Amino acid sequence: MFITFEGIDGSGKSTQAHLLRDTLVAQGFDVILTREPGGSPGAEEIRSLVLEGDPDRWSAETEILLFTAARRDHLERTILPALAKGKVVICDRFADSTRMYQGLSRGDLRGIVDQLHNIMIGREPDLTILIDMDPAIGLSRAKSRQTSEERFEDFGQALQEQMRRGFLSLAREYADRFHVIDGGRSQSEVASDIATLVQEQLV
Ligand code: ADP
Ligand code: TYD
Repeated sequence: MFITFEGIDGSGKSTQAHLLRDTLVAQGFDVILTREPGGSPGAEEIRSLVLEGDPDRWSAETEILLFTAARRDHLERTILPALAKGKVVICDRFADSTRMYQGLSRGDLRGIVDQLHNIMIGREPDLTILIDMDPAIGLSRAKSRQTSEERFEDFGQALQEQMRRGFLSLAREYADRFHVIDGGRSQSEVASDIATLVQEQLV
């Protein structure tokens, strides 16, 4: 089973992906936890190219190519081999993030994102957990982290609001695999909802 976490920066994806991994491992499942951009040696190198440096470093179109190149390598070398061995794959962000960030934030490039996805990726998750929350809270959580990966974090609350609406609309577009979870609660409350949801899907 291929499970992805999506949502705005600071919504708790990484925290919840780790907690879900621990829960499933304790239940005896063979699990790998991975992330995007990254998740394979080559894709981690591309991660530094896209997340560090000047915000104007890449055009929107070049950025789509870079994220898709990273995803293709991640899929070939990490995700598909793990799924072939029967593992549960948990991934912190995947193609829905490109549909949102590259597809929406600098003009309407969703058509290009989708075309490239169809040619080069062509795989959707079995289950996508969207952690939805107030962008002001997400941004303050994200800003409290010390990191050099800040190309996107300077874009501010207006972008976060736009991404939140976009993710909710994507959840309606792909209603068969998306589940929206209220992230504005304690870590354990959010984790418990996610564990119940995944349990239902795994049975
Ligand atoms: P994301 O991966 O979505 O950017 P993280 O899981 O890294 O989010 O969480 C961002 C910050 O918020 C971290 O410092 C984390 O400890 C904290 N955090 C995560 N979930 C919660 C929660 N439910 N309540 C309060 N703080 C949280
Ligand atoms: P991530 O490390 O998940 O950041 P956060 O924990 O703050 O959510 O992702 C870093 C940034 O990369 C994030 O701002 C979203 C952006 N991103 C894209 O723009 N496109 C993509 O396809 C992906 C996977 C991430």
